[in-house]
Amino acid sequence: MDYDQRALLLELEPTVGALYDRHARVAQEWFPHDFIPYRLGRDFDREPWTPDQPRLTGVAQVAFEVGLLTEDNLPSYHRLIHGMFGNGDGAWLSWIGRWTAEEGRHAIVLRDYLTVTRNIDPVLLEHGRMHQLSNGYDRPTTDTLHGLAYVAFQELATRIAHRNTGRYSEDPVADKIMLRIAADENLHALFYRDAMTAALAIQPSQAVIAIVEEVLGFDMPGAGIPGYLRKAAQLARAGIFDLRIHHDEVLMPVLNQWRIFELDGLSPAAEEARTKLATYLVDLDASARRFEERRAANLARNQESSAAND
Ligand SMILES: [Fe+2]
Ligand SMILES: [Fe+2]
Repeated sequence: MDYDQRALLLELEPTVGALYDRHARVAQEWFPHDFIPYRLGRDFDREPWTPDQPRLTGVAQVAFEVGLLTEDNLPSYHRLIHGMFGNGDGAWLSWIGRWTAEEGRHAIVLRDYLTVTRNIDPVLLEHGRMHQLSNGYDRPTTDTLHGLAYVAFQELATRIAHRNTGRYSEDPVADKIMLRIAADENLHALFYRDAMTAALAIQPSQAVIAIVEEVLGFDMPGAGIPGYLRKAAQLARAGIFDLRIHHDEVLMPVLNQWRIFELDGLSPAAEEARTKLATYLVDLDASARRFEERRAANLARNQESSAAND
């Protein structure tokens, strides 16, 4: 990228300080132990886990597994976030620490919940965690503008996926946990979104190019989980996270907030990127519509055949 990363971080620092203060004012302290039904706990040495024990089944289990293994990979995210923003002073470093500490709570509450309720095989979860952390998670670049763009979208996407996972589980305990985590992810998304708004004012063309590249190459951080494509397809069919949500609830609100299509005076390269983005969004909307139609048709067919079998 054609800009001085450290100069940008330093110029953004007062804004980041103000955003950190806003975050600290509105973020509510919470404790994982308050959310766990410990009365359900039994010793695993005396009563090992068996597949008939979970109350959650099928897609709900998959959604929790993906959610937890995604959160588990925090050491990699911390390394990347530090690479993207750690060259800034003061407020940037305070944010990195605070954000990391808050994210750590998500894996704690999810694993405690899943272990105490026996809703997922704890050995499978531990094997998954070992796999995730041993492979780590990486990105092609730790460029600051690319990083800001990615995390603004990713935190919002994670918020929605967690929220819908809780709802889909039809378990009030799980729903409350996911609502609580989603509230954190929402504040993270707002922080990064607003930091990027400030960056757009300083480096509009470079920021637009970074945003477009991140939209076009977007993948959820859980993409390294074994069987991820199959699992993501299951989550999409269940409406927990699909192309429609990605287009309507993640990309468009953030891009509109940044007024991407209203910015003036961009470089030719940024103009070109913006044109690419417009085409991409039209195509994505069309793919989302096709997926919804297919899903609705499959549902209707399944309902017909189950009615015929009754
Ligand atoms: Fe999280
Ligand atoms: Fe987050």
